[in-house]
Amino acid sequence: MNPPIIIMGIAGSLRAGSYNRAALRAAQGLVPQGVRLDTFELNEIPLFDQDRESPPPPAVAELKARVRSADAILFATPEYNHSIPGVLKNAIDWVSRPYGDSAWDSKPAAMMGASIGSFGTARAQDQLRQVLITLNMRVLNRPEVLIANAQRGFDEHGVLTDESTKERIRKLLHALVDWTIRLNAPEAGISR
Ligand SMILES: Cc1cc2nc3c(=O)[nH]c(=O)nc-3n(C[C@H](O)[C@H](O)[C@H](O)COP(=O)(O)O)c2cc1C
Repeated sequence: MNPPIIIMGIAGSLRAGSYNRAALRAAQGLVPQGVRLDTFELNEIPLFDQDRESPPPPAVAELKARVRSADAILFATPEYNHSIPGVLKNAIDWVSRPYGDSAWDSKPAAMMGASIGSFGTARAQDQLRQVLITLNMRVLNRPEVLIANAQRGFDEHGVLTDESTKERIRKLLHALVDWTIRLNAPEAGISR
């Protein structure tokens, strides 16, 4: 039997009641067979300090190791002032360093995002995509998962109740897995 494909989920929010963390929890129950979605919480990641790049603080070392061992990354980003939260950018920056030792390089990635606004993180996702491309990640373009008016789609326990959002997340996960398998095929020249 093949080992499971591991997707690592990273939400750009530390908030206990975060819709983005809740969306990742929902995604854990929507993965295709033979796939596991593990999450990483960013609470212990300190502010980036280039003087501490090498060796990095223990929480950063753990994050880098988890990114390296994952087959693909799924980001769940809030939108802060039309961009990605500092918490997420900070973690992305750490994992990209020191120069020449980025753990993001060539890693398949997808994104989704939940906001209480009516654009569902569209602007934040555009900016996240730009950063991930800069890091030479293999970013899935579609389907887009923009969870607008998130307060209506989750119940008071942070459970995703909106069926159409669940379906979109399910499609995103399937597309990410297909994408990861295709990139890892020997003819793609990328080893797992
Ligand atoms: C600093 C800050 C800036 C925000 N800016 C936006 C924004 O530009 N667009 C938007 O739709 N929501 C914005 N919001 C509201 C977020 O969508 C909302 O707080 C959401 O719940 C954050 O995601 P989370 O639930 O995963 O923590 C902002 C919230 C904060 C705290």
